[in-house]
Amino acid sequence: MIEVAKRLHTVEEYYFSRKLREVGEMIASGKPVINLGIGSPDLQPPQKVIEAITNSLGDATAHKYQSYQGLPELREAISLFYKEHFSVNVSPVNEILPLMGSKEGIMHISMAYLNEGDEVLIPNPGYPTYQSVTKLVGAKPVFYNLDAKNNWLPDIDALQKLDLSKVKLMWVNYPHMPTGAQPSTIAFKSLIAFAKRNNILIVNDNPYSFVLNDNPTSILSIEGAKEVCLELNSLSKTFNMAGWRVGMVLGDSAQIKNILKVKSNMDSGMFYGIQKGAIEALKCSKMWYVTLNSVYKERRDLIWKLAEALGCTYDENATGMFVWAKLPEHLKSEAFIDKVLKESNVFITPGTIFGSQGEGYIRFSLCASTEDIQECIARVS
Ligand SMILES: Cc1ncc(COP(=O)(O)O)c(C=O)c1O
Repeated sequence: MIEVAKRLHTVEEYYFSRKLREVGEMIASGKPVINLGIGSPDLQPPQKVIEAITNSLGDATAHKYQSYQGLPELREAISLFYKEHFSVNVSPVNEILPLMGSKEGIMHISMAYLNEGDEVLIPNPGYPTYQSVTKLVGAKPVFYNLDAKNNWLPDIDALQKLDLSKVKLMWVNYPHMPTGAQPSTIAFKSLIAFAKRNNILIVNDNPYSFVLNDNPTSILSIEGAKEVCLELNSLSKTFNMAGWRVGMVLGDSAQIKNILKVKSNMDSGMFYGIQKGAIEALKCSKMWYVTLNSVYKERRDLIWKLAEALGCTYDENATGMFVWAKLPEHLKSEAFIDKVLKESNVFITPGTIFGSQGEGYIRFSLCASTEDIQECIARVS
């Protein structure tokens, strides 16, 4: 028997990996399960993106190893995208590193900055990968609670009271998944001041800016942010390109260089055609965002009805690709979603997979057709 590395004992199989197996078994046994759990966009990417990858396949360098830093035109397109949508200047030369999705950036940043025993501030509720990657690199998660009463924004006074002597990194994620909470300029400014006071690197994970959100914001738009902040972004949700695996990390050139040191030892560049498609996506006009959001808006209206049919409440001002709904008092998230799955063949994510602060909440994905959502309403009613 070959022993696995100790780090493997620090993490469990991803919740969705386990639960979707169960859902798969239900479907195989003839149950018509509708999946409102996972946030994998079902809509098509822009047509010109598909044309760009298709047309690129005959290019002379299409099938070679690519640059570790991505094509210069891709970094140029990312720089223009940040200027246009966030009014942020990032140099295409050394302040941008294209990634294969923003998820891998979480590992690269952690490997670049964390030693065993370092502590990492992680939002509760929050994206589970921050915690698992922290554990995989031997660092220690320190959860900070987010709360509806504080609009799911960090309580800086409470953070400042913690022993921060070992804290090196803090994950923030605005617009926030799973709650859809928006950042405020004041919140970002206090976070940056907190990071400077305590010598902590803040990473804002920002893949949901363009979904049902009138005010896309980057933490890098705050003066002085680059001294202590990095930002991750992604084409997965904005352009329905989750399977393409295109993301980016942006920030000060010295930090980008450190992350490149890790990444260049792990992969050998992003496929050329994917980069060509990504460049076209980043150049999309305003019309793309309007059309995308009109579909999500229609779906969200229906999901709100579904939430009401299940006795839940929700925040109409929340943004993003999910609806975060509060269960009636005293109901437990996992028992509730299991009941709905069993009785109505509708799969919804329990809030607890995002942390203990998710107890009493459930998360609906907007990645399902209006017909499917209507069917869910009929079933639970
Ligand atoms: C908060 C958050 N960050 C990052 C990711 C990863 O996105 P990707 O790697 O597709 O860019 C997700 C995906 O669901 C997410 O919800």
